[in-house]
Amino acid sequence: MSGKNGSVKLVAGNSNRALAQEIANWLGMPLTKAVVRRFADMEVFVEIQENVRGSDVFILQSTSFPANDHLMELLIITDALRRASARRITAVIPYFGYARQDRKAGPRTPISAKLVSNLITHAGADRVMTLDLHAGQIQGFFDIPTDNLYASPVMVRDIRERFDLSKVMVVSPDVGGVVRARGLAKRINAPLAIIDKRRERAGESEVMNVIGEVDGYTCILVDDIVDSGGTLVNAAEALLGKGATEVYAYITHGVLSGGATTRIINSRLKELVITDSIQATEAVRNAPNIRSLSISSLIGEAIGRTAAEESVSSLFD
Ligand code: R5P
Repeated sequence: MSGKNGSVKLVAGNSNRALAQEIANWLGMPLTKAVVRRFADMEVFVEIQENVRGSDVFILQSTSFPANDHLMELLIITDALRRASARRITAVIPYFGYARQDRKAGPRTPISAKLVSNLITHAGADRVMTLDLHAGQIQGFFDIPTDNLYASPVMVRDIRERFDLSKVMVVSPDVGGVVRARGLAKRINAPLAIIDKRRERAGESEVMNVIGEVDGYTCILVDDIVDSGGTLVNAAEALLGKGATEVYAYITHGVLSGGATTRIINSRLKELVITDSIQATEAVRNAPNIRSLSISSLIGEAIGRTAAEESVSSLFD
């Protein structure tokens, strides 16, 4: 494949080989031959086994679990490509780990999302492409062009196929996620409810106030990340307690750490729908109430447009 900036190459790290291969298939091109492995002491070693001189190269790598290893792979692949004279390097990071550390949460704490952005830029990336950033402002942490794609078109298609939209209420599981949830609600013309989590006094358990009349509705929780699953499981309980008939969740990034998968399986969530921005573990793949939607065509299309210097934002009109 040839773009406006030379021949196009796709280089995959080890975080999500399945998604990388699907993106390559969608674009109708092979993954560039490269070795990304460990030395005995676990240092990362990279060897790009094809000529990339003058090429427009897209690195496919989520900084998902184990986050530090995958981040290091991304940095070292970038360095290898820069030293191999790639014309332009785009770091395609479907799941941008460290995004939740986007501000000083307390005295003497870091802003790790900014540090990671600096590392990626200094390693030699010319552009970044990512998906549903935890906070849109993180784009400004990079002083290079950054495209923040949205999984919502993929989710909306699925929701339209599966639900009677007249009975659907979109729900933000916390106040911070209202903009994201409202965007999806608008696309399917559904009402919006919000869960307001509050701890009235230190040491007391959290109170979940549901803002909105969810009685008789099929509720769809929308968020960027499911990590421990606690937010979703508690939200589902609160909504069912207020008369919701069923609760589903559409969440872009299935981080699902620790016992999260078991927590979701044992919960009253009818179904959790995630994307393949993070490679699913076997437990996630086998969970009866977790389903994954592929974002390969969305990312493939965005890569194709970037290579051709066409608009990416119009993908979401
Ligand atoms: C937080 O602001 C995020 O949007 C998610 O709500 C959060 O990361 C989910 O975490 P957990 O699944 O551990 O409750």
